[in-house]
Amino acid sequence: MEKSAHTERRTGQYLTIYLDTLRIDSVLDFDLYIINGSNVVLFRAAKLPFTERNRQQLLENRVNMLYVSRLDQQSYQRYLKNNLKNIVADVNLEESVRAGIVYESAKFLLEDIFDRPTLSENICRGKELVSSTVGFILTADSALTNLLNVMSFNYSTYTHSINVCTLSLALAQFVGVKNPSDLRTLGTGALLHDIGKTKIDISILNKTGPLTNAEMDIVRQHPQWGCDLAKETDLIDRESYIPIIQHHERENESGYPHAIGGKQIHMYGKITAIADVFDAMTTQRVYRNAVDAYPALKEMYEDRGAFDPELLGAFTKMLGPTNLNSSS
Ligand SMILES: [Fe+2]
Repeated sequence: MEKSAHTERRTGQYLTIYLDTLRIDSVLDFDLYIINGSNVVLFRAAKLPFTERNRQQLLENRVNMLYVSRLDQQSYQRYLKNNLKNIVADVNLEESVRAGIVYESAKFLLEDIFDRPTLSENICRGKELVSSTVGFILTADSALTNLLNVMSFNYSTYTHSINVCTLSLALAQFVGVKNPSDLRTLGTGALLHDIGKTKIDISILNKTGPLTNAEMDIVRQHPQWGCDLAKETDLIDRESYIPIIQHHERENESGYPHAIGGKQIHMYGKITAIADVFDAMTTQRVYRNAVDAYPALKEMYEDRGAFDPELLGAFTKMLGPTNLNSSS
């Protein structure tokens, strides 16, 4: 079965994938590798069906993660996209595994969206992903706990977008938004909230020191640019523009781009603002150490009425240990 061995184990050349993303009896168009000692070896060549026997063989050897060559990344992503709905709805899979698969799929997708934000296929995939995530959140008993557990705390624009989407959906559901269509609308906007940043020069985005006024003026345009990009494909609900345009608005009118406040900000805008700031503060960036959840929340409370107090209170309660434990 092992027909070739790589002398170097360079996982950078491979994607790590969950065994559970592979559907039994499906024919894969990518090779599957496993780790054997310090080598990456071929387990199953492309075009051969992946059988229950293959799966059992792996499980008997305690293998639940496999590797796919980065050269086959597109094929694997296509496979995952076509199967995500079934995987996420599969009650035989543990919720923690389903959460991990949702998160991994989202990372691939976000890379594509930020690479080509006006490609219709990418936006449609974004909507499908949000739909699967909403389905998962609404049907799984501990979806929130599991999604929070798999969230990456190493900051990247991609993981940040997924985290903001996840936290926004969780908060909305926590405060009583139960309608799947409303959750999908919010989630899609939250996932795409920062796509306008694709128009900002990377040197400004990665700048570690304070921004000049001119640079700040550019940054402040990303909510509007994000809406402009969304309009180009015209594939998302008009209400999904709200998280994009309003996620930097603040209750006390100190935000941008329109410096609106209070009731002028839609609930979707208020929710995304909380999720955005919380995630930015609690994930590790190159130039800033992450702070724990409670100091981050404390700082948000102290920001002189920047956030909706009721929603911030609900968010704090939602992240509280009692609540998370009771749902696990
Ligand atoms: Fe933003």
